[in-house]
Amino acid sequence: MRLLFVGDVVGSPGRAGLRDAMPGLLERFEPDLAIVNGENSAGGLGITERTGRDLFEMGFDVITLGNHTYRRKEAYSYLDEAERVIRPANFMTTAPGKGHVIVEAGGMRVCVVNLIGMLQLQAARSPFVEADALVSRLSDDADAFIVDFHAEVTSEKVAMGWHLDGRAAAVLGTHTHVPTADARVLPQGTAFISDVGMTASRTSILGVKYQQALDGFRTHLPQKFETGDEDVWVNAVVVEVNDRGLADSIEQVLEPVLKP
Ligand SMILES: [Fe+2]
Ligand SMILES: [Fe+2]
Repeated sequence: MRLLFVGDVVGSPGRAGLRDAMPGLLERFEPDLAIVNGENSAGGLGITERTGRDLFEMGFDVITLGNHTYRRKEAYSYLDEAERVIRPANFMTTAPGKGHVIVEAGGMRVCVVNLIGMLQLQAARSPFVEADALVSRLSDDADAFIVDFHAEVTSEKVAMGWHLDGRAAAVLGTHTHVPTADARVLPQGTAFISDVGMTASRTSILGVKYQQALDGFRTHLPQKFETGDEDVWVNAVVVEVNDRGLADSIEQVLEPVLKP
């Protein structure tokens, strides 16, 4: 089973770039399962039914989210209804949406889980305890687990890789929008990367027009933040999952979108 996982797609420029890149990515990697983090898909913050539909139409099977999940109130019912849109499992149980979904891919039952870090982000419960509970509860229902760990701090992300090594096919970090150079398969068979990165303009600071974000740092005065639209790159990983529900390889994809 081959997985394509695309990092946080930012705003309409990110979505437009991804729409241009997807046919080539699908042809090249022939993934059985395509997942994208969509927490910044709507104007750079949050998701809406429209941006969710847009990502599904490009060929994605599951959309994961993160700390910006609830930016758009109008999307709360969509989060409840859309089976393949998931938000961090360790959010409040009363919050809209759900934290995992099981899908068929490449002849396997694949459980995709979204978790959020505790450090500098708002988690209702420990992601480590939540991961244990989910994996033990769902192990009869799923042949493999894919975890999007949406977290700020690299130590917490690396820790999650070791925590789930041998139990998840992949633990893939998102949220920082900066891809890390530590992609590898851990000793017990879990593909890991601290952060997949973003699918967004590189003429930006984490997706925001760089002049605006820079002015914020320089002046400490409120700034208008707009999504950057120049030089969109795709940041992703491709993971090869074997019959034992563990990873054989993880390969990073970092490339500019070429206009078709
Ligand atoms: Fe985030
Ligand atoms: Fe993000």
